[in-house]
Amino acid sequence: MAWITLFATLADAEARVAVGQLFKVRLPRPPFRVILLRRADGSWRAFEDACPHKKAAFSLGGYLNGVGEVVCPLHHYAFELDTGQETTGQACPHLPMLPVEVGSDGLRLKVY
Ligand code: FES
Repeated sequence: MAWITLFATLADAEARVAVGQLFKVRLPRPPFRVILLRRADGSWRAFEDACPHKKAAFSLGGYLNGVGEVVCPLHHYAFELDTGQETTGQACPHLPMLPVEVGSDGLRLKVY
């Protein structure tokens, strides 16, 4: 596991990432493509830009539904963003969340 700094300050992060936007980030190490999400309550979530069902990219048309779950653009499975659990009743692995930390050294992401 390693921490990667995505933004030097929280202000930088908030200036670049709109609330509710699926912000695509490329990393120099696995998982390489990540979605960073700023929620309306001020919290942040991050997860690999690959649906656990058939690996469709959330960045290619994924969206948040009315209850704040991320919906895959391919088969429209939805994933709750605290546990990563699929919520439409499909037999599908959960979507692992990547830890996000905001501190004096900016917004950081913990990757495998
Ligand atoms: S690939 Fe995402 S729901 Fe099928």
